[in-house]
Amino acid sequence: MKYPKEVVLTNCTEVSIRPLQPEDEGRLRAFYEEVPEIDRWYMRFDVRDPEVIRAWARGGQDVFSIVAECGDRIIAHARLHTHRYGCYHHQGRLRIIVLPDFRQKRLGSWMLLDLIRYAMEKGLREVRADFVVGVEDAAIESARKLDFFKKALLEDFVIGPDGALHDLLIMTKQLHKDWGDF
Ligand SMILES: CC(C)(COP(=O)(O)OP(=O)(O)OC[C@H]1O[C@@H](n2cnc3c(N)ncnc32)[C@H](O)[C@@H]1OP(=O)(O)O)[C@@H](O)C(=O)NCCC(=O)NCCS
Repeated sequence: MKYPKEVVLTNCTEVSIRPLQPEDEGRLRAFYEEVPEIDRWYMRFDVRDPEVIRAWARGGQDVFSIVAECGDRIIAHARLHTHRYGCYHHQGRLRIIVLPDFRQKRLGSWMLLDLIRYAMEKGLREVRADFVVGVEDAAIESARKLDFFKKALLEDFVIGPDGALHDLLIMTKQLHKDWGDF
């Protein structure tokens, strides 16, 4: 894949998508400071922990990250987590977050497509994403549009900041050998 990739959002804002670099650590930290607290709550990692951000910025064989920039500011971050060995090694796990001002302008879809393509190039058989029902419905909708299907629904599985339980929807997308089958 050729990076940086310039994309124009539906409101004509120009954005550049590229892999995350170790030098981005400070800007990625600033990005997560801007992410609404409610979105941070439902993440699997504490993105306020500098060690978490440092590990992502350094990268490694088990996580591939791309960021979208508008000017000098990171406005979205997407990751694909993989396993080198064992029963999950055929599968990648996706997570995408876009700053609120840049949502509903197709940026999430662009980034999702890039990670799917990367997963295909890596020879993975499927990608997985987990969504909190009633909270991450926009993400469920955008995943459905890209042929993700329900794999399982874990009822009352995750807890909200107010103590209320929510269902967790596991969705997967089967990958094929080339884009022709996409
Ligand atoms: C989910 C998220 C990444 C989507 O990014 P985005 O850039 O807004 O998504 P897009 O503009 O590409 O939207 C793609 C499709 O998703 C659906 N969608 C997006 N936002 C929506 C909303 N608020 N309500 C309903 N549907 C929505 C639409 O079907 C849209 O297609 P359309 O443009 O043809 O109408 C973004 O909303 C976000 O960061 N949310 C908080 C974190 C989160 O839930 N992450 C998902 C975990 S993987």
